[in-house]
Amino acid sequence: MQIKLTLLTASCALALAACGGNDAPPQDTASTPAAQTTPGAMDSAPATDAPGAMGTTADPVADTTMPDATVPGTDPMGTDAAAEATTTMGDAATVSDCATTIEGNDAMQFNVDSITIPASCSEFTINLEHTGQLPEVAMGHNVVITSTADMQAVAADGLSAGADNEYVKADDDRVIAFTDIIGGGESTSVTFSTSDLQSGGPYEFFCSFPGHSALMKGTIAVQ
Ligand code: CO
Repeated sequence: MQIKLTLLTASCALALAACGGNDAPPQDTASTPAAQTTPGAMDSAPATDAPGAMGTTADPVADTTMPDATVPGTDPMGTDAAAEATTTMGDAATVSDCATTIEGNDAMQFNVDSITIPASCSEFTINLEHTGQLPEVAMGHNVVITSTADMQAVAADGLSAGADNEYVKADDDRVIAFTDIIGGGESTSVTFSTSDLQSGGPYEFFCSFPGHSALMKGTIAVQ
């Protein structure tokens, strides 16, 4: 009995040690935010800060692990927020089964800046998860897909359309797909026909919440 208990204790200790080891590295890519793993892992909290502090954790991560991940085209923003945010981008969305899940956070960022749809997919689904905590009215996110040429005008018209219309003009033929606006902790999705992305590109996905499209955008293409 004594030996069994000892072994059991030892294996538990090993398991705990293994768990702690896995939780330790906070600096993964932006697509696996530390905030998602911290709620259940108290030991890593001091290193990565609180779950809700996406804004504060983003800066050290960006500065130390992704110095080269600047994104062409987002530089002319001018604001400090823009300069910091662009350094966390540069990641391609993970696609499987003709679907992907992308994240938006409280720092006005998507976790990816490109989505490549396999040519074999007739339909494609984008799941959007808001990993932040701020409410929809303060830090709302959606995904809107248009041609790159139409993006700015669609965003401007979305602004006029207002929150009641998910910041997308009603019956806008330029819009290939869009989701609802969501707030922190919420998720949504949209499925669309990939035939709409076959010609007339290049295409982009972006958030049409006021002021977000300059930062929250990326390329989307069928390949
Ligand atoms: Co947004």
